[in-house]
Amino acid sequence: MHVYLDKDIDLGLIRARRVAVIGYGNQGRAQALNLRDSGVEVTVALRAGSPRRHGAQSEGFEVVTAAEAAAECDVAILLAADEDHGRIYEEELAPHLRAGAAIGFAHGLSIRFGLIKPRADLDIFLVSPKGPGTALRRDFEAGSGLVSLFAVDQDASGGAEALALSYAGAIGSGRVGILPTSFAEECEADLFNESAVLWGTIPELIQAGFETLVEAGFAPEIAYFECLTEVKLIADLIYERGIAGMREAISNTAEFGALDGGPRIVTDATRAEMRRILAEVRDGRFVEKLLADAKAGYPRLRASREAARAHPIEAVRREILDLGGTT
Ligand SMILES: NC(=O)c1ccc[n+]([C@@H]2O[C@H](COP(=O)([O-])OP(=O)(O)OC[C@H]3O[C@@H](n4cnc5c(N)ncnc54)[C@H](OP(=O)(O)O)[C@@H]3O)[C@@H](O)[C@H]2O)c1
Repeated sequence: MHVYLDKDIDLGLIRARRVAVIGYGNQGRAQALNLRDSGVEVTVALRAGSPRRHGAQSEGFEVVTAAEAAAECDVAILLAADEDHGRIYEEELAPHLRAGAAIGFAHGLSIRFGLIKPRADLDIFLVSPKGPGTALRRDFEAGSGLVSLFAVDQDASGGAEALALSYAGAIGSGRVGILPTSFAEECEADLFNESAVLWGTIPELIQAGFETLVEAGFAPEIAYFECLTEVKLIADLIYERGIAGMREAISNTAEFGALDGGPRIVTDATRAEMRRILAEVRDGRFVEKLLADAKAGYPRLRASREAARAHPIEAVRREILDLGGTT
């Protein structure tokens, strides 16, 4: 795979265009700030009553609505929640974007699953940073960047790929690497990971491990440090050395525990469930569930946030922080 870097990129392409960043949340704020620092002309678009308007204005951006931004821009970057993309495109972008404009995405969901059927004259590209906006901004300010994936779904102008790379460079990813993918590959792999590996499984494992120790009479504080705090240490080790390197860096006792216990938790049944999760992602059942929850006012998301806040592990965290400890 060819990994693109700043030397492969013409930053002038994005600098020559007016960019509208739609949304000023996790990704929107970071991308707008990085673009501006890279010499790109940026307008931020938010709903009229958005609580984030003031923040974006106080950080020096002109703030307009998505419809107003669409009429003025050459490139609209859609950084609203994925489930809102269809409505924003239909009501605010499609009627106003000038012929030959481009829409950029940070995640492939709304194109992959047909929430948006873009006009044929538009360039449609993806630049997906592999991390949250906070890290995208922090690393950029530190002179580095986050790896991004990029893809083109529709190349009406013949220049969509070069434009996507230019955009990725302007948010800082050309400093570390921009990897080619497709909307489908980025979207499906990302949704699978969110459900089955990082966001879905690791927190469940931490809570289950904590519950097992506390149920057996261990002090909650000890259970907390064992099952939660050490996650950061192992993540750092894996990031720096890989999984084999991590194994070499830990004690023989820890390594033996890993080989004895890990395969009993992640079993053939776990792998079979992972395949089912991937199938549900690919055939659209996962996105149907997401859209149904959004339409009903997010009852499942709200209940899950409430359950996470109410879990006893959070009380231990507050207690440790109150005592001046670090977590
Ligand atoms: N979060 C991540 O780490 C991450 C990483 C990679 C890719 N992505 C992708 O980036 C995109 C944005 O995700 P996010 O997490 O940054 O979302 P977010 O934090 O929920 O922010 C969404 C923003 O969109 C705004 N918005 C909603 N409706 C709008 C409208 N009609 N016009 C203009 N703005 C509108 C919201 O406005 P209000 O402030 O008024 O609510 C908010 O500022 C998604 O496609 C996501 O998959 C996210």
